[in-house]
Amino acid sequence: MKILITGNMGYVGPAVTNQLRTSHPDSVLAGLDIGYYGNCITSEAAFPERNLDIQYLADIRRFPKEILDGVRAIVHLAAISNDPIGNRFEDVTLDINHRASVDLARKAKAAGVGSFVFASSCSMYGLADDRARQESSPLNPQTAYARSKVLTETGLAPLADKGFTVTSLRFSTACGWSDRLRLDLVLNDFVAGAVASGKITILSDGTPWRPLIDVKDMARAIDWAISRPVSKETRFLAINVGSNEGNYQVRDLAEAVAVEIPGTQVSINQDAQPDKRSYRVSFDLYKKLAPEYQPAVGLKESIRELKSGLESLGFRDGEFRNSRFMRLNILTELRKKGLLNDQLQWTGL
Ligand SMILES: NC(=O)c1ccc[n+]([C@@H]2O[C@H](COP(=O)([O-])OP(=O)(O)OC[C@H]3O[C@@H](n4cnc5c(N)ncnc54)[C@H](O)[C@@H]3O)[C@@H](O)[C@H]2O)c1
Repeated sequence: MKILITGNMGYVGPAVTNQLRTSHPDSVLAGLDIGYYGNCITSEAAFPERNLDIQYLADIRRFPKEILDGVRAIVHLAAISNDPIGNRFEDVTLDINHRASVDLARKAKAAGVGSFVFASSCSMYGLADDRARQESSPLNPQTAYARSKVLTETGLAPLADKGFTVTSLRFSTACGWSDRLRLDLVLNDFVAGAVASGKITILSDGTPWRPLIDVKDMARAIDWAISRPVSKETRFLAINVGSNEGNYQVRDLAEAVAVEIPGTQVSINQDAQPDKRSYRVSFDLYKKLAPEYQPAVGLKESIRELKSGLESLGFRDGEFRNSRFMRLNILTELRKKGLLNDQLQWTGL
């Protein structure tokens, strides 16, 4: 079996590669990435792509079809991956996350790929009331990034058929250690603040709800989705991925970090505008369909791994929100140097 992972050179990709290498030791594992964050490695051991058989450097907007020869499953992670980048590069976000993604799925189906796993996001629930959102709940995307995920799901659904299974994993917000760590995610930001300066600054009033999931548990969900049982009704499946216990209010996350890293001061911005994103999510369907693949990494463990990983890097940067640990800053830097054009395509030397 040959499995292609797009966007493998990002934050989630290394965990997915490790998971699939373990669960599919005899498969051919290929990665495909444009390489925006190629040199943002945070592992001391070795480069994360060592566990792949093939690494393609390519843009999914110009996808070379021949790569699909013999591919049985695609894990589609490649994307512009957060709200700040989506706000700054709205058209590009829709082009990569929506148009090119649906186009890739069409090509995959035509090439005989059997399973397409899409990394979607619970952020499509946007601003919701206190009731936990189910898969059938109304969507309320607040940003270009979240809208791109809704559009892609809508474009993927009709492609599914007997020979082409599509699973849209609506992931909770990711957290935890990765060989390509990013700190523009809520828990990672809090741990970085605590490690670097003993301070956590919550930008909101602390009340918004966010479901969290460790990247290792995302990888296990992807493993499930690749070869999940399929009935006529579930050839296309959109499913929330996380756990009911993993719904937290942002201030509780900060407090949990302060407990693990004693001496940390937590400050809440009392004057903050209400966050436009707050949602609790029901993960009952995932519990029912994937009992063997339920999240196994607890919040404390994610915090401890982040702490020890950052300490082993000698991390001390209290100004990390202006650093290369933030995906938007890297793209901005590459644009400034003229290495990326306004479509976020490489310009060459
Ligand atoms: N991190 C989260 O909290 C989270 C939550 C839910 C869903 N997701 C989704 O999971 C996926 C992976 O997220 P991540 O945190 O690893 O993001 P990331 O930004 O770290 O990685 C995304 C990868 O996609 C690649 N990429 C971007 N545009 C590309 C293109 N045109 N062609 C080829 N490769 C391209 C980038 O180079 C990068 O390596 C994304 O689809 C994201 O939307 C992430």
